[in-house]
Amino acid sequence: MSGSNRGSDRQVEVYMEGLADITPDVPPSFEALEEAALEVLDDEAYGYVAGGAGGERTVGHNRDAFAKWRLWPRMLRDFSERDLSTELFGTEFSVPVLLAPIGVQSIIHDDGELGTARAADSLDVPLVASSAASHTMEDIAEELGDTPGWFQLYWPSDDDLTKSFVTRADEAGYEALVVTLDNNILGWRERDIGDAYLPFLDGEGVANYFSDPAFRDLLDAPPEDSELAAIRTFIDVFGDPSLTFDDLEWLCEFADLPVVVKGVLHPDDARECVARGADGVVVSNHGGRQVDNAVPALEALPHVVSALDADVPVLFDSGIRRGADALVALALGADAVQFGRPYAYGLAIDGEDGVEEVVKNFLADLDLTLGLIGYDDVEDVDREAVVRADEL
Ligand code: GLV
Repeated sequence: MSGSNRGSDRQVEVYMEGLADITPDVPPSFEALEEAALEVLDDEAYGYVAGGAGGERTVGHNRDAFAKWRLWPRMLRDFSERDLSTELFGTEFSVPVLLAPIGVQSIIHDDGELGTARAADSLDVPLVASSAASHTMEDIAEELGDTPGWFQLYWPSDDDLTKSFVTRADEAGYEALVVTLDNNILGWRERDIGDAYLPFLDGEGVANYFSDPAFRDLLDAPPEDSELAAIRTFIDVFGDPSLTFDDLEWLCEFADLPVVVKGVLHPDDARECVARGADGVVVSNHGGRQVDNAVPALEALPHVVSALDADVPVLFDSGIRRGADALVALALGADAVQFGRPYAYGLAIDGEDGVEEVVKNFLADLDLTLGLIGYDDVEDVDREAVVRADEL
């Protein structure tokens, strides 16, 4: 949808409904979304989605980092026709926004990842499907239709399983592999520890594993006959803290799809990943879910961008809540952003329709704010669009 009018279309839709006294069920503000999700989700599921590592300082830092930057609007620049589209790895994206990989969406709503994929497809917004999804990558790809999809890999400790996931993702039509580097062991999450809750132990979020021939080869009995043993094997093979850059080289050689490494914060790591064969980078601290009191992802972004050649795609996540946040990240050198918790809350509130509402609102805000700061093409947004608050 280049020649975007997503913003005004959405305004008209909402305000016209207002004439009939209909107000949106899914709140437009992130804070209200979070509150509404808190009301509908089980305490444990809410804690799992909203929570972060340790004292959750990184979750807060991620947001605080945005307050250090200000968009600097420019006037009289004709933004009547706006273009939100961009290209990544040879595929045209209608927007520079992907739905971030979120696993185990069955604990959020029965629609789970299939509802999210349908919403993504209805809005032509690319989606990153998680290894830890509650539905198989093939079923998610089916719902996504022609909308671009990437597959996020939690890199298992078993090489045959890794190869099987990578091959399945390619065959299912995913266009890139997003290899998460920052979660080969799970962070210390006080809310989940307090609730003694890990959804995978209930058999949620394991669909890709239980359906996988290489995983099933590791079992004495199929998961349908012995779920608990299969879950134990899942826990054993989920991640591998012994991985090094040599392993990344192996993976990049094996994978035919472009490899995008996710969870990179240090410029030297970004450089090394690309030297070993990675095709792109997601600057992210996993939404603050892995390391407490870590560098905010937004602060790391310009360092990573300057460490890499301009033709290496850099994506960003961790703290994106609104259109203005996306624009700050794009101004600091991101080629696209991912957002996660907002759509997870939409899913909690109203399933597929809730995701659709949240994403529509986010893109409307992005589209309008892009024009209002004086740009008609999202690809032109650069460092000139922002100023550090302490330099004003
Ligand atoms: C898993 O990746 C999680 O963040 O819960």
